[in-house]
Amino acid sequence: MKKTLIIGAGGVGRVVAHKCAQLSSSVFGEVMLASRTKSRCDAIAADIMAKKGIQIQTSAVDADDVPATVKLLKDFKPDILINVALPYQDLTLMDACLEAGVDYVDTANYEPRDIPKFEYHWQWAYQERFQKAGLTALLGSGFDPGVTNVFCAHAAKHHFDRIDTLDIVDCNAGSNGLPFATNFNPEINIREVTAKGRYWEHGAWQETDPISLGTTFDFPGVGPKKMYLLYHEELESLSKNFPSARRMRFWMTFSDNYLTHLRVLEGIGMTSITPIKFQGQDIIPLEFLKAVLPDPGSLGALTKGKTCIGDLITGVKDGKVKHYFVWNECDHAACYAETGAQGVSYTTGVPAMIGAKQILEGTWKKPGVWNMEQHDPDPFMKDLNLYGLPWQEKEMAGNPLAEIG
Ligand SMILES: NC(=O)c1ccc[n+]([C@@H]2O[C@H](COP(=O)([O-])OP(=O)(O)OC[C@H]3O[C@@H](n4cnc5c(N)ncnc54)[C@H](OP(=O)(O)O)[C@@H]3O)[C@@H](O)[C@H]2O)c1
Repeated sequence: MKKTLIIGAGGVGRVVAHKCAQLSSSVFGEVMLASRTKSRCDAIAADIMAKKGIQIQTSAVDADDVPATVKLLKDFKPDILINVALPYQDLTLMDACLEAGVDYVDTANYEPRDIPKFEYHWQWAYQERFQKAGLTALLGSGFDPGVTNVFCAHAAKHHFDRIDTLDIVDCNAGSNGLPFATNFNPEINIREVTAKGRYWEHGAWQETDPISLGTTFDFPGVGPKKMYLLYHEELESLSKNFPSARRMRFWMTFSDNYLTHLRVLEGIGMTSITPIKFQGQDIIPLEFLKAVLPDPGSLGALTKGKTCIGDLITGVKDGKVKHYFVWNECDHAACYAETGAQGVSYTTGVPAMIGAKQILEGTWKKPGVWNMEQHDPDPFMKDLNLYGLPWQEKEMAGNPLAEIG
């Protein structure tokens, strides 16, 4: 019987726990959910019992503490650790997996707390150690990064001889009726959005001011929405693994209301990660802001509408230029009914479960540290259709983003 340890009991952890529990008899075996705050794990375990009649175990662990995590790993003896805590914990959890001999999956690349930099080099540096230990580490198994990487690998395998341009488009058209809330961890979300935009063109990174380049895109199932160019971490691995591409970009939709709030918060220094003195204590304004904003895990019941995320690709097939779009649409209310979480947690948690499933079943079990697009996309694409994130694809007459920028 296999054993699965999930670390992080936020919105994403809730979905991963539900989905792994659902497949406990066939794939994941005994499931344990651990986080700093055990009561959060217990609440999720009680919900899984109530909705699905399946028991999962819970535990308290501080994933910044390697010896404590190693102890938990050695006591529970999981076959795989699914890290859905925060990106700050990636390296300590990879260290703990190496020490305890456990395969590893995460959904976001490592970031030091004091520098908002989304880069893979810290985690890619573990390649040799995982290879030597005969262990598999799968990086970025969420939606974006994650499914967007697999979409690209699927397009390269089945639709193109050469990929020329990639535009990843991410729309959350959900509305929660609150004046300002982020749909995943506010600290990580705001660090991402307030960073400079960056895209890959002609073999080099091009930089833009934050949220300065925007256009409108007609999202299937949602309609036209304004989206903005952002740097997103999958561009780093995709540009390396698909070197034929002359341009790769990432776009995300934001409402005018969200951007107005963000500009005000930035303008008054609330998004800063430089510590300030407050009543004799050092505090980081962004961490304080996180504490006063709504917990993304609590937005499930309030959020209505859809998400739509896809890859728009132009390239060449059989000597002819081809434009192709592959995407998923997901409904917030349906996600909530199934797992008690909104669509952004759901679209991250389901791929984390599916990535771990590939490793446990052996289809993606390969010693070393891998990004999603380095594996065969077929079994993952099949599982997306089976476990809640069905995808669609179509050939397009032209590329609506070709001339933007
Ligand atoms: N790839 C994608 O598509 C994608 C999309 C969205 C999010 N993500 C990633 O998914 C992850 C989870 O996001 P979320 O929205 O679920 O965040 P969240 O609601 O803030 O939950 C994070 C959880 O991590 C736990 N945690 C934090 N530090 C910990 C530590 N030192 N030890 C143990 N547990 C710790 C917290 O536990 P306590 O409450 O117990 O303190 C919290 O329950 C993040 O890394 C985020 O970047 C990826």
